[in-house]
Amino acid sequence: MSEKNNEKVSEAQIAVHWKEEGYFEPPKEFIAQANIKDDKVLKRFSMENFPDCYKEYADMLDWYKPYTKILDSSNPPFFKWFIGGKLNASYNCIDRHLPKYKNKTALHFVPEPENEPIQHITYQELYVRVNEMAALLRDFCGLKAGDTVTLHMPMIPELPITMLACARLGIIHSQVFSGFSGKACADRIVDGKSKVLITADSYYRGGGLLDHKEKADIACDGALKEGQKVDKVLIWQRYPGKYSAKTPLVKGRDFIVNDLLKDYKRARVEPEQLPADATLFIMYSSGTTGKPKGAQHSIGGYMSYVTGTSKYIQDIHPEDVYWCMADIGWITGHSYIVYGPLALAASSVIYEGLPTHPDPGRPWRIAEELDVNIFHTSPTAIRALRRVGPDEPAKYDYFFKHMTTVGEPIEPEVWRWYYNVVGKKKAVIVDTWWQTETGGFLCSTLPAVHKMKPGSAGPGVPGIYPIIYDDEGNILPAGSGKAGNICIQNPWPGLMMTIWGDDERYVQVYYQRYNKDPKSKDWHDWPYFCNDGAVQAADGYYRILGRIDDVINVAGHRLGTKELESAALMVSEVGEAAVVPVADPIKGKVPHIFVSLKPGVKASAELEKKVTDTLASEIGPIAKPAKVWIVSDMPKTRSGKIMRRVLAAIANKQDTGDITTLANPQVVEEIKNMA
Ligand code: PRX
Repeated sequence: MSEKNNEKVSEAQIAVHWKEEGYFEPPKEFIAQANIKDDKVLKRFSMENFPDCYKEYADMLDWYKPYTKILDSSNPPFFKWFIGGKLNASYNCIDRHLPKYKNKTALHFVPEPENEPIQHITYQELYVRVNEMAALLRDFCGLKAGDTVTLHMPMIPELPITMLACARLGIIHSQVFSGFSGKACADRIVDGKSKVLITADSYYRGGGLLDHKEKADIACDGALKEGQKVDKVLIWQRYPGKYSAKTPLVKGRDFIVNDLLKDYKRARVEPEQLPADATLFIMYSSGTTGKPKGAQHSIGGYMSYVTGTSKYIQDIHPEDVYWCMADIGWITGHSYIVYGPLALAASSVIYEGLPTHPDPGRPWRIAEELDVNIFHTSPTAIRALRRVGPDEPAKYDYFFKHMTTVGEPIEPEVWRWYYNVVGKKKAVIVDTWWQTETGGFLCSTLPAVHKMKPGSAGPGVPGIYPIIYDDEGNILPAGSGKAGNICIQNPWPGLMMTIWGDDERYVQVYYQRYNKDPKSKDWHDWPYFCNDGAVQAADGYYRILGRIDDVINVAGHRLGTKELESAALMVSEVGEAAVVPVADPIKGKVPHIFVSLKPGVKASAELEKKVTDTLASEIGPIAKPAKVWIVSDMPKTRSGKIMRRVLAAIANKQDTGDITTLANPQVVEEIKNMA
């Protein structure tokens, strides 16, 4: 690349001001017991062994009929894995474990009210309940392989039971996050063309029993307006035998599952022997703008990938108690609460409610009581727990061998709190970068092999070969330390098959940008465009800078919002920070920063200045926020993500739009009054 070209590239870059962080070694005790102890796996999954390397993951499953071809790439970017093979996901997560583990807990269900007992559901009980539910779906609803059904269920054990019952028959489930509105559910019913909606009457969140069934009515009415009639609504009771919602049942449409199940006692349903490239589920991507995009995941490829990565990256053994605090309504929950861990016969924890309810010690009490040894959560949750209960973990007697962070870039400051305080300096940490569309992990360190580096996800996981392009389509040299758009060169089994019902959009959103020949039948010409910015350091580790859309262009300088937030968290009084772009007549866009403070800290002009000065000194004067807003709390979604969209609207003096789905809509009024 010429000098001139190089210069052009650097102009287009997101400014990268992160300091290189030091390494942390994986603990010896962890290495001694790890599923993967050395780097031979990287050779087995080298590019020259692609795609055959993925046999290693497929072999972790039981197949009714062996596959005859590992990868069919004859029609890129529509890739098919394990062609000719037949299997069943429900069988792989349940039946095959029974001879050895029928008495072992498959799911620990922790209700939000602390006085309600924890339910321990064994593999045998899971088998019985999934079979009975499958019989009901088949005989009462008339559902069969290839049909779709929409689920709008909270974090109760009946959610994985319903998913696995669907999987047993080959019914495609489309679970909508329970915190989403009835309207959002309606859009997904319409897109999925579901005639059956499965929901629950109620669930606990933040101390209250919420009426969830009312959303089903809104969803069915909304879907009908768009031409999709829901024939049956199946309602699970939070308290079996007692209907706990205020909203009445609609005669002829609504049915209580717990009542219906009485007719299916001891029913057994043979798992369907399904082709590897049949669809297991649809999961809508988290984007809230435009028509929802349903990532369509296969049975064979997806199951192989989540099982393999659960074993090698999550280091799950059957004897582990594994708690992923995500919601099953997101891809993290599908892959790494339900399908991956259960395929490996682990005991997986499902927690119903808010991590900070009734106090920030709750997660650590759960960990202590269940002897959880693998813990998995998001930077958002870690920041919230750090803010409200920085000293809580030390009060409880638990031991984590392994911890995961997922979902957004983690600020090194927050990583260190996770490592020192939550992990008590004994746990290995993996920072796993991936997406709804990718089914499983893309970048992470191998926990017993690679050193950890706070804020960096790590290299591509075995078999994943990332590459960074600049805006013009040039490949940045490996380890250049320059930011660009990260893509994956090769397909992998966990990759979605397409966007449900919209092949064109699949090609346009994920491939068009860097595909040079749309007619090419060679997979090498179809890098998967992740829509994320990233930088690769000299050691090969990738640091993810966030969605390409999250870049603020200040007078021609591109700033990643995340690096500003990360710098703000270095101010010891700051608990959480969110940066949003605000229109400016001169500079184009300027950053405003919202910060909430740790308990006991008071807002002051000095503190505002301290935040501004820190951004200026850590990143540069260009990063100086035009305004620092010290707020009592951030507007958050029910899953705990900070709603930057709402903050941006307030800062730009625009309408905040629909805020009814927020966990704390009252905060919005409060912040508006500060404007
Ligand atoms: O921007 C990246 C960010 O979350 C996006 C994917 O979001 P979603 O499909 O909801 O899936 C979340 C769970 C996998 C990515 O495009 N992201 C996810 N994990 C990380 C991350 N950013 C930085 N570091 C991560 N570990």
